[in-house]
Formats: sequence, structure tokens, C-alpha cells
Amino acid sequence: MARALCHRNARLLLVARRESRLQSLADDIREQNGEVFFVAGDITRPETRASVVDLIGREWGGLDALINNAGIGGPGAFQQAGPDRLRRMLEVNVVAPAELIREAFPWLEAGINPIVVNVGSVLGHVAVPWKSEYCASKFALRGFSDSLRAEFSGQGVDLLHVAPSTTKTEFFEKASQGGEQKKLTDWNSVSPENVAEQILRAMVKGRHEVVLTVSGKGFVTAHRLLPGITRWLIRRFLPQLH
Ligand SMILES: NC(=O)c1ccc[n+]([C@@H]2O[C@H](COP(=O)([O-])OP(=O)(O)OC[C@H]3O[C@@H](n4cnc5c(N)ncnc54)[C@H](OP(=O)(O)O)[C@@H]3O)[C@@H](O)[C@H]2O)c1
Repeated sequence: MARALCHRNARLLLVARRESRLQSLADDIREQNGEVFFVAGDITRPETRASVVDLIGREWGGLDALINNAGIGGPGAFQQAGPDRLRRMLEVNVVAPAELIREAFPWLEAGINPIVVNVGSVLGHVAVPWKSEYCASKFALRGFSDSLRAEFSGQGVDLLHVAPSTTKTEFFEKASQGGEQKKLTDWNSVSPENVAEQILRAMVKGRHEVVLTVSGKGFVTAHRLLPGITRWLIRRFLPQLH
């Protein structure tokens, strides 16, 4: 996403926890004459978000796009997990983006055609077993996005919610999924470059809600039109993956 935005001459501020990864991405972007800053820190921590917002004010005095992309998964039976998994997933996937929107809002209002992009998931449209906390967090992010879009419409700040499907990133390794899920990832996944391009296209077109892949659109539409059958198929086949 950062590289795709750099190709469109965007000035960037990146946030993640691993400083070495941020430094190497920033070096790449600067080699292409891009302007980039970064803040290394956990986005759930108020001090990280404060550094981000301070930097925006100091360097730019306005913000055109806030992309809430950081997210975590963690599959497995709900009953066998402790409360930390639920709490952490809601903190990273819902509370941190919400608070960052709140804190960056004055700078968004000072931006040009400002937009918030919340990266959700197809699993924010259709819930599956063994990912209950993740589904809860992504359903929450989608509902939150719908509500805020209406709330911000009088203030000139737009909001796009995107729902990617399985994407080839580090997400599944970090979520320590088992071998079966890895197989699903291999045949049924798209590249992060493809996802980034589609998100940028949706931003430019002023879209509000986008499900990114054909399989994702099919899944969401089938669930809307034939909820009973889709739920039966999910119950019948998805447990076999775990
Ligand atoms: N991959 C998929 O199949 C898929 C499908 C649907 C939706 N999504 C959504 O797409 C988004 C991006 O996921 P991805 O696949 O690119 O996952 P990823 O490869 O694991 O990347 C997640 C990014 O977020 C950062 N991050 C995670 N937790 C953070 C925290 N607490 N504070 C600051 N930064 C944090 C990570 O950097 P650090 O680890 O260095 O902090 C990393 O840059 C997520 O919201 C995910 O839910 C992914």
C-alpha cells in the first residue's frame, strides 16, 4: 500500500511495531524520491497514536487519507482460548482505528478531499467458525464505519470500508494457523499489491464499501441471498479445516 501510494506521489507516514521493517521500507521509498516518515510503535498505545498525530501536525498541518490497515487474527475454538485473545483482537482491530480517527480528525478536516479507509474483511460480512473473535472485530469495524460515514458526511470527511479476502501476507503465519489453512491460503489468495491497487482505485472513485475479490463477492452475495444454505455449507465444510 505504501509503495502504491508512493507511485502516486503521496507523502507518507507509516506506523507499525517493527522499526527495522519500517526503516527498510522508508529507505526504498526515499530511493524513489518519495517523502516518508515513520513511527515505530504499537497502535493500541495512546503514546504511539499521539506521536503520529503530532508528526502530522508538525510536518503537514493536514491529512488527506488515514488508512487503518493494521490488524491481527487468531483462529481456534473460542472455548479453548482465554480472554486475552478477544481483548487483544478488539483492541487492535477496532479500538485503535477508532481512537486514531478521533485523534487525527482535526487534521483530516484540514486535509484535501479527506478520507478514512478502514481495512476490514470478508469475515466482517459473513461469520465463520473458529474465528469468532476476528469475525466479531471485523463486523464491529464495518458497523462502526457505516455509522461514522453518515456522521462525518456533513463535515467533508469521507469513509471507505474495504473487505479483502485471503491475501498472501504474513497474517496467517502470525496468527499461527495450521497446515490445512495454509493450503487454503495458497490456492485461494491474492497478492497484497493487487489488494493495494484495488483499495486505491476505490478511494479515487469515491466508493464507500468494497468487497475486493470475485470469490469474496460471491461469498457475501450468497450469504445475503441464501443465508440458510450458506450457513449450512459453512457449518458442514469449514470445521474440516481445523
Ligand atoms: N491477509 C489476509 O488474508 C487478510 C484477509 C482479509 C483482511 N485482512 C486484513 O488486512 C489488514 C492487513 O493485514 P495483512 O494481511 O497485511 O497482515 P500482516 O501481513 O500481518 O500485516 C499487518 C500489519 O499491521 C502491523 N501491525 C499489526 N499489529 C500492530 C499494532 N498493534 N500496532 C501497529 N502496527 C501493527 C504489522 O506490523 P508490525 O507487526 O511490525 O507491527 C503489519 O505491518 C488487516 O486489518 C487484516 O485483518 C487480511
